[in-house]
Amino acid sequence: MDITQALPLLGGISPQVFMKRHWQKKPLLVRQALPGLKPLLDRAELFELAADEDVQSRLVVHDTGKTPGWRLAHGPFARKALPPLKQAGWTLLVQGVDLHDESVHALMNQFRFVPDARLDDVMISYATDTGGVGPHIDSYDVFLLQAFGRRRWRIGRQKRPVLQDGVPLKILTNFVPEQEFVVEPGDLLYLPPGYAHDGIAEGGCMTYSIGFRIPKKAELARELLQRLAEDAEDELGEVLYRDADQSAVDQPAAIPPSMIEFAQQALQEVMLDPQALARGLGEYMTEPKPNVWFEALETDTVFLAGSSVQLDRRTRMMFDAHHIFINGESFNAGGRDAALMRALANERQLAASDVKKLTQQAKVLVSGWAVAGWLRLV
Ligand code: SIN
Ligand code: CO
Repeated sequence: MDITQALPLLGGISPQVFMKRHWQKKPLLVRQALPGLKPLLDRAELFELAADEDVQSRLVVHDTGKTPGWRLAHGPFARKALPPLKQAGWTLLVQGVDLHDESVHALMNQFRFVPDARLDDVMISYATDTGGVGPHIDSYDVFLLQAFGRRRWRIGRQKRPVLQDGVPLKILTNFVPEQEFVVEPGDLLYLPPGYAHDGIAEGGCMTYSIGFRIPKKAELARELLQRLAEDAEDELGEVLYRDADQSAVDQPAAIPPSMIEFAQQALQEVMLDPQALARGLGEYMTEPKPNVWFEALETDTVFLAGSSVQLDRRTRMMFDAHHIFINGESFNAGGRDAALMRALANERQLAASDVKKLTQQAKVLVSGWAVAGWLRLV
């Protein structure tokens, strides 16, 4: 992707300018970002996904009648478990649709001017008239693409957000909108994290949320320490604490300072290898989602000769200066193989003429990925 080229998707600015001016900073409303957009899945197909136990879905019902309030239920939902279409005020939200539908995956790829390590998934919501999830704040960035019908958005910065008590959703009690507009199919709204918003359907409405993942510091510390601990098992496993200098103690419950020092050394040694940290991060960031299964081939090897390869839409592949990561595994890579593998990760495909240039060792790897169902020969 040419990141300097102005895109209709971003209202005539380039990805470079968008990232500088808007990303994590301020909203952007783009009218007709995708002119003539038709829903990539119809309502029945979305409902079918919501019935699948491998798909995460939620139902939010807003009652305004005799017993007003919000109800939240988690899927899977049989079609009959959803309220009637004639009933106003409900929303079905289906997470990770990009994993199940090629055209939705292709739509998400249009946003790959943001690193894959940040891109999360496409959620699709279907709402009946007046449906919505209430005024709220998300902790992640989002592009909200209107795919069908109309939705009225009210958005605003919220200095001191207060959440409503006793409801199953995070709903603001003190939402003060600063802007209000009605979006139509093809319109796109970008919101940075922490920006309050409330979208209310005007008639039947489908909205696609291109969502991002924001790793938490504590989450990364936990994941990386866990991986470093496994490395330590191999490298430091048999090194024992020694205390030939230990003197007799009259306070037996006190932990010896030399043991604290020994523990400190152990930690320092596992963190010393910067490659181990980078490797752990790449493995973690490319870990497939929990509900992802690949269909392995019923063969031990496939021959790559003459084929180009294409990553499965569920495959996560990234790289850093020294490694290639794919679906939670890491490989050291250098030279021409590394350049070709990086191209595969970036383009999500590699032409036959490039596959041919891989070393025998790299071909064996790629063939193994094909057997695992991580990529396909085309
Ligand atoms: C929706 O699609 O109804 C909710 C999207 C959001 O407000 O984050
Ligand atoms: Co939201």
